[in-house]
Amino acid sequence: MTETALTPQTEDAPAFPDDRTCPYQLPGGYVRLRDEEGALRKVKLFDGREAWVVTKHGAARRLLGDPRLSSDRSREDFPAASPRFKGFRNGPKAFISMDPPEHGPRRRMVLGDFTVKHVKGMRGDIERIVHGFIDDLLAAGPTADLVSQFALAVPSMVICQLLGVPYADHEFFQDASKRLVQAMDAEGLIAARKDLTGYLDGLITRLQAEPGPGLLGGLVAGRLANGEIEREELVASAILLLVAGHETTASMTSLGVITLLEHPDQLAALRADPGLVPGAVEELLRYLAIADLAGSRIATADIEIAGEVIRAGEGVIVPNSIANRDGSVFEDPDRFAVRRSARHHIAFGYGVHQCLGQNLARLELEVIITALFDRIPTLRLAVPVEELTLRPGTTIQGVNELPVTW
Ligand code: HEM
Repeated sequence: MTETALTPQTEDAPAFPDDRTCPYQLPGGYVRLRDEEGALRKVKLFDGREAWVVTKHGAARRLLGDPRLSSDRSREDFPAASPRFKGFRNGPKAFISMDPPEHGPRRRMVLGDFTVKHVKGMRGDIERIVHGFIDDLLAAGPTADLVSQFALAVPSMVICQLLGVPYADHEFFQDASKRLVQAMDAEGLIAARKDLTGYLDGLITRLQAEPGPGLLGGLVAGRLANGEIEREELVASAILLLVAGHETTASMTSLGVITLLEHPDQLAALRADPGLVPGAVEELLRYLAIADLAGSRIATADIEIAGEVIRAGEGVIVPNSIANRDGSVFEDPDRFAVRRSARHHIAFGYGVHQCLGQNLARLELEVIITALFDRIPTLRLAVPVEELTLRPGTTIQGVNELPVTW
C-alpha cells in the first residue's frame, strides 16, 4: 500500500485535528464541523492524506459498530492524525488493534478483572489510595502540582495493584508511559514502547520464576504457561493496560477539577447533593472527551452512510469530542451541567472496542471527586486557566501541570 490518497483530493478539506485553546471547550474548527450539514466530512491530515471525520453522534455509533471498519493500526494505510501514529505500525499488536474474530478471545482473557462486580470489590482499596494521597497533599501544602502529586499517582497505584506490577517501579513506568502518550513522532513512541517492553518482559520472567499476584501474575501462571498466549502479545497487552489504565484517568482528574472549579454553581450543586456525583462523572466524561481520537479506523469495504460512500482503504476518524456535543442528543451541548443525563456519550468509544476499563475509571473518578472537594473545600487554581499549557489535539487531552492551592 502506498501513502498517497486513494481518491481525488477534496478541495475544501479542512486540516485535522485541531488543538484545544480551552481545557473543556471544543476547538473552533470542531464547532464548525459539528454545525455543518451532514454527518461526515473529508479532512486533510498532516501527511497530506485525506480521511473522513464523523461529525454526528448517530453516524459515530453506527460506524464504530460496523465490522467493515478495521482497528488494525499496524496497516500502512491506517489514518495517522500526527507523525506519532505511525509508531503504532511496528511491533506486536495489542487487542485494541485487532478485529473480530481475533479480538474477542484476547479481550475475554482479561475481562473478568474489569467487570462491575470485580471493580466494586476494589472500592475500599481505591478509597484508601485516594485518601492516602490527599493526606500527603495536605501535609506538604498549601500548594501542589495536582497532576504529578495526585492525578497521576492515584490511577497509577490502582492499576499497579490490579495488574500486580510493583508500585516501587512506578517512577520508571510512569515516565515511560508519559513519553509514550506524549511522543510527537514515531521514533519517540517506539523508543518509549521499547523501554516499557523491556520492563514488562523482565517482570514476566520474574513472575515465571516466582508466581505473583494480580492480573499479570494470573496470566503468566495460566495462559502463558498453557501456551494460550504468546509472550510478545502478553507484553503488548500489559503495556496497553498499564498505559490506558493511568494516563486516561489522570487526565480526567485534572481536567475534571479544572472544569468543576471553573463552574462554581455546578460544583456547589455537587457539594450540596453527593448523590449527583455518578451523573457528574458521566457529564465530565461527555464534556471532556479526553481520548478524543481513539476511534480511528480504516474501511475494509465500501460503506454507504448518511448520503456518502466511504471507499475501502479510506481512513475514518470518529472524534468523540464532536459526537458528545451533538445538539440533537444533548440539549445545549456546550453547557456543562451535572444534573443532565449524559448517559449516551461515547467518551469510552462504542462497539466491540468500547473501553474495557470503564467501570474502573468511573469508580476511581467518583471516589476522587467526592474525597478531593470534601477534604480540601477551598481548593482553587493557583494560576488563571488561560495560563495552563494544554496538550496538543493529537494526544490524550490534558495538562502536563496543574498548580493548585487551598
Ligand atoms: C476516563 C478514562 C478513560 C477513557 C476516557 C477511555 C477511553 C477509551 C476509548 C475511547 C476506547 C476505545 C478505543 C477504540 O475504539 O479503539 C478505550 C479502549 C480501551 N480502554 Fe479505555 N479509557 C479510560 C480508562 C481506561 C482504564 C482505567 C483502563 C484500564 C486498564 C482502560 C483500558 C482500555 C482498553 C484495554 C481498551 C481497548 C479495548 C478493546 O480494544 O477491546 N481504559 N478506552
